[in-house]
Amino acid sequence: MHTTLHVSLEGQSHHYPLHIGQGILSNLPAYMADVGLIDGTRCFIVTDSGVPIRYVETVGAVLEQAGYPVTVATVMQGEGAKSIAVLEELYAKAMAVGMNRSSVFIALGGGIPGDLTGFLAATYYRGARFVQVPTTLLAQVDSSVGGKVAVNFGDVKNCIGAFKQPDVVCMDLEVLQSLSPSQYAAGLAELFKYALIERSALAVEPHSVEASPLNMPWMLERFEGLETGWKTELSTLVEHACRIKAAVVIRDEHEQATTFDATGRVCLNLGHTFGHAYEATLGYNTVLHGHAVAMGMVCSVFAQADVLGDVTVSRVLNLIHELGLIPYDVLATLPEWPSPEALLQVMAKDKKNMDASRIRLILPVLPLGQVVVQERSARQLIPSIVKAHEYFRHQLEALMANPIPQL
Ligand SMILES: NC(=O)c1ccc[n+]([C@@H]2O[C@H](COP(=O)([O-])OP(=O)(O)OC[C@H]3O[C@@H](n4cnc5c(N)ncnc54)[C@H](O)[C@@H]3O)[C@@H](O)[C@H]2O)c1
Ligand SMILES: [Zn+2]
Repeated sequence: MHTTLHVSLEGQSHHYPLHIGQGILSNLPAYMADVGLIDGTRCFIVTDSGVPIRYVETVGAVLEQAGYPVTVATVMQGEGAKSIAVLEELYAKAMAVGMNRSSVFIALGGGIPGDLTGFLAATYYRGARFVQVPTTLLAQVDSSVGGKVAVNFGDVKNCIGAFKQPDVVCMDLEVLQSLSPSQYAAGLAELFKYALIERSALAVEPHSVEASPLNMPWMLERFEGLETGWKTELSTLVEHACRIKAAVVIRDEHEQATTFDATGRVCLNLGHTFGHAYEATLGYNTVLHGHAVAMGMVCSVFAQADVLGDVTVSRVLNLIHELGLIPYDVLATLPEWPSPEALLQVMAKDKKNMDASRIRLILPVLPLGQVVVQERSARQLIPSIVKAHEYFRHQLEALMANPIPQL
């Protein structure tokens, strides 16, 4: 099974395909040739040491068999790889093997190799060719589509970067089977986010989503029906998430829409303002980004409880629980979690805010699947965080009494 979506960026000649399905890795040379990266093009694969070696070997072998000269650079796992120092090593290696502007850099791995390789490709001789082969769920539904690439500097994440759209994105769903449950849950949280923003994100394509206020949006309905056999639905969900991300990027490639326009790139930030505060206060090694976003979505739902009503609030919270978006080991650290005041101090510094006293948030509204951008004071937000932490405590107790099977 294989689907191809097309991202066509307005006002530019650039458009690129996203291939999603099974057996995609083995067909990489054909997808590259389709976008003019013909055999003989020098390939520089960047991966990290946590990506199972068999995927690196498969990609290397199919490319070489098809007549592409291949170099593989394996960087360390983790955020440390998104650094100027690692970039320098890659520039040196790329020059040593004779990479030029028509050569292609291939990111093989999660969002970390993706962001690093994209920046390498954007800057090498003022821009070489770039292929994304995302192997984590997060990278497939989020980071590999949209062209934001960056490295970290000092302790500031993603602050040295560029917009570099790939020539083609190749997503093989089979590689997701080797992800750890925790990594899987983190990607699933970002996937679930799309269900809550679907209607706003697809605002210019209303025909592609059921718009009746009485119905659950397309993605939420699918998440609701999921039980043990839910993985069969995964390809449909990944494909739809990519469709949503592509629609938003096409509309607002460089995040220039006014920050109150919930159809712009800002809608992708649902759960992220709270989420970044959890990441910053708990530490990036304690909580994965996706888990923090899931915690942030819980806070956002409580912040809108009056608007959403009890039934909808419980419906969304039950889904977050049933999908296991916040794993047990994260919930178990709850006693050390920051106070609402500590979280709000971080949130006050969010770059979306016009001034520190008004925190700008992306919040769900009815009909579900739609979001708005609103400002709240820190004082207004305290009760929502307190309620969210009570909810997390109940989740922890429920999981201790009755653990849910690993997805
Ligand atoms: N550019 C964007 O628009 C964008 C959007 C979201 C996130 N990001 C960035 O993405 C990064 C996070 O990405 P991530 O969550 O994919 O992390 P990651 O790249 O670190 O991957 C997570 C872990 O999974 C391992 N791994 C990768 N594929 C695997 C597979 N198939 N089987 C088993 N293990 C595998 C990796 O070695 C790594 O240890 C962050 O740096 C974040 O800033 C960028
Ligand atoms: Zn995110």
